[in-house]
Amino acid sequence: MVLLTGGTGLVGAHLLIRLIENGEKVRATYRNRNAIEKTKALFAYYQKETLFDAIEWKEADVTNITQLEEAFIGIEYVYHCAGLISFQPSDEGRLRKTNIEGTANVVNFCLANNVIKLCYISSVAALGDLAEHETVVTESTEWNPEKPHSDYAISKYGAEMEIWRGQQEGLQSVIINPGIILGPGFDDQGSGLLYKRVAKGLSFYTTGVTAFIAVPDVVEIAIKLINSSIVNERYTLVAENSSYQQILNSMSDALNVKRPSIHAKGWLLEIAWRLDKFASFLFRSKRNLTKYMARSSYNSRIFSNEKIKADLKISFIDVHQYIKKIAKV
Ligand SMILES: NC(=O)c1ccc[n+]([C@@H]2O[C@H](COP(=O)([O-])OP(=O)(O)OC[C@H]3O[C@@H](n4cnc5c(N)ncnc54)[C@H](OP(=O)(O)O)[C@@H]3O)[C@@H](O)[C@H]2O)c1
Repeated sequence: MVLLTGGTGLVGAHLLIRLIENGEKVRATYRNRNAIEKTKALFAYYQKETLFDAIEWKEADVTNITQLEEAFIGIEYVYHCAGLISFQPSDEGRLRKTNIEGTANVVNFCLANNVIKLCYISSVAALGDLAEHETVVTESTEWNPEKPHSDYAISKYGAEMEIWRGQQEGLQSVIINPGIILGPGFDDQGSGLLYKRVAKGLSFYTTGVTAFIAVPDVVEIAIKLINSSIVNERYTLVAENSSYQQILNSMSDALNVKRPSIHAKGWLLEIAWRLDKFASFLFRSKRNLTKYMARSSYNSRIFSNEKIKADLKISFIDVHQYIKKIAKV
């Protein structure tokens, strides 16, 4: 039996559809029963409602040992998709607890239950920092603890360290490091938020470059890796290194709204995040633009996908075509 953590998230819900389609017996974790409705709605979006009832749901927070113990009964394979994505400075503790401590718990239960293989959904945020002579981030680019990292990146890197610790203790696993994942159904989180903002009309664009990938590619690769003989490797998953401007333009065109036309330059963003910090201190409100968000939107980081292409012989969905496709439905 397969255990999938984070069955109510973008990646977990998409993986569930494919796993059930493939005839797997799957137990999926949730924290709040209401969130299961999002997964159910996604099955309906793909007209796969009839498959939904095949999921065995189990309430389990990855930081709750008792709940995890029950979730792991009879499990052979694990997709660990549960995680917190946040760039709010106030979420530092929650990020560490969910992503590092939660992953340590998952690893420990995998070891205790002789799980055959674990697939962990990490992020490009956990990849290393380029040295001066390097231009492209790969799986072996070294993490430099002296360079600034977001709390999210630190938590994902810390989670990977738990996976590597598990490997040393005999757990067979694979790690995937996707770029920003594009997909339908989850408007209030991740790239769904970007769509929502573009739909409302966005004036500013930035020219920073980062990695993007469509969710069906992430699902396909995770399943192929867990069923392969590949163990104890990590793979960067990027279909395209694209500027935010290009992605926002594609989203605007797909949603039939005006493209953002004002270039938010680096110096403007540097002022904006400081003003946002001041406003959030004054009004005790959540941050809209943190230092990390501002800098990553005007900096460029290019990632290589050569390793996964060579090992799995796969090609990727064109992200701009995919943006059009999911906006239409
Ligand atoms: N989305 C992206 O662009 C992206 C890119 C790279 C890597 N990733 C990684 O991929 C993984 C899945 O991301 P996603 O896009 O599916 O995120 P998501 O849509 O925000 O879903 C996160 C999932 O994790 C669950 N979760 C959060 N905290 C938990 C806890 N303490 N215990 C158990 N479950 C918990 C959530 O449950 P609730 O519904 O109860 O909140 C939800 O099911 C994450 O680890 C993320 O870091 C995502």
